[in-house]
Amino acid sequence: MLILYPNPILRQKARKITKEEIQSPEIQELIFDMLEVMEKNEGVGLAAPQVGKSLRLCIIKKDGQTFILINPKIKSKSWSKEIAEEGCLSFPGKFLPVKRSRRVKVAALDKEGKKIILKGEELLARAFQHEIDHLDGILFIDRAIKTKI
Ligand code: CO
Repeated sequence: MLILYPNPILRQKARKITKEEIQSPEIQELIFDMLEVMEKNEGVGLAAPQVGKSLRLCIIKKDGQTFILINPKIKSKSWSKEIAEEGCLSFPGKFLPVKRSRRVKVAALDKEGKKIILKGEELLARAFQHEIDHLDGILFIDRAIKTKI
């Protein structure tokens, strides 16, 4: 079930998932459910708080490749930034310009609990930043560029 803004869970700082939990049926099932919700809603990314679980887990789909990130952390961001329209499954029909770093490097655990390092640029970098923000209760409306009238 997809959680929509302004549900307060979207503003909570999500907690880390322990190594023991990663292999548990609960987390594996949560990942499965999230993939389903993302597919059904044709999203590019989804964070666990958006399905009502305040846990540090997010998924991203780009060009047929699916990334499952547990306890992700941005290790580095490029100085160069770019502005693009962004949306979020928790804000149906809302699109706003957001400035993000063009490239990021992310460290996380995969669904087997193995440490992974991922590099992304442009749309993928944007998705990493958007989804990791969700885990800290930060939403794209907070980062949107105020448009002049
Ligand atoms: Co979002």
